[in-house]
Amino acid sequence: MSVPERYIQEIKDRPSSISSESLQASLQIPIIDFSLLAKGDEHETRKLDLACKEWGFFQIRNHGVQVKILQKMKAAMAAFFELPLMEKKKYAMGANDLEGYGQAYVVSEEQKLDWCDLVALKTLPLEQRNLNFWPLNLPGFKEAVEEYSIEVQKVAEEINANLSILMGMERDGLKRYQGELKQLMRMNYYPPCSSPDLVFGVSPHSDGGSLTVLLQDDDVIGLQIKHKGEWIPVKPIPNALVVNIGDAIEIMSNGVYKSIEHRAITNEKKARISAAAFAHVDDELEIGPLDSMVDDPHRPPMYKKIKYIDYIRQVLARKMDGKDHTDLVKIQT
Ligand code: OGA
Ligand code: NI
Repeated sequence: MSVPERYIQEIKDRPSSISSESLQASLQIPIIDFSLLAKGDEHETRKLDLACKEWGFFQIRNHGVQVKILQKMKAAMAAFFELPLMEKKKYAMGANDLEGYGQAYVVSEEQKLDWCDLVALKTLPLEQRNLNFWPLNLPGFKEAVEEYSIEVQKVAEEINANLSILMGMERDGLKRYQGELKQLMRMNYYPPCSSPDLVFGVSPHSDGGSLTVLLQDDDVIGLQIKHKGEWIPVKPIPNALVVNIGDAIEIMSNGVYKSIEHRAITNEKKARISAAAFAHVDDELEIGPLDSMVDDPHRPPMYKKIKYIDYIRQVLARKMDGKDHTDLVKIQT
């Protein structure tokens, strides 16, 4: 009934209530018809380009992932979070671990906590799975996550193919550069909170990887993105998926595509569940602006090259303090 101290944000950080302007702006978040994109439709490709430049976020319809698969995934996540705490703790995340059940990015005793439970699993490639983190005795869980993760990776790959063309390469340009994409599935559970104005479901951050595809609750609004200095809610469209550009693509695109700061707020009455599929590159890959996105002296490289794992380590060490992650590698001019 009362919110524990460690979850209460400083007054300056607390989420403000949603204004009517921001609800209005919410209607402008681009909605892309994925089936047209996959056919190479020029108009839709241009829409994707603008969405990644101006919003860094968009929703996709007709993404080809069957509704049945989305529903099974949601049911599997709900079933997991309903397990007794003792049972969930069998899959607990260790210190410095990115996988397992727990809370995200707890780096210090003083740090504020997010009003969120999560389970994160390495889902792709298959050989990187650690099945000891998977609740294998929960009926249907493994099949549901497996099926969904494969489908959603196809979506991420198609978007990457389109981005490759938009960035002046062949369809397989990003794939060649990034190698086979990996996937970390972060399943979030936001319990109802008696004072949603005091806490964050997820505090402001940008995603470090290449692309994120988010499956969100159809009924409960939670996700907000920063656009022109305002926090704009991303209203769920039933059975659509939300896609956002991560830091790695921002860097590779030499700053043309934006990895936008976002956060999730909680709801007083209803729990909310989401699944974020992070498509990310190999730890050892050196990321930097792509040759096709650099045009000295008109558009010099704006980011330093850095090994992906070193970048992620620095981001985590700095916690999730809003969106200055890419500043770590920005070349000062
Ligand atoms: C994330 C994230 C938002 C949400 O997991 O990185 O931003 O709505 N989640 O769950
Ligand atoms: Ni995120």
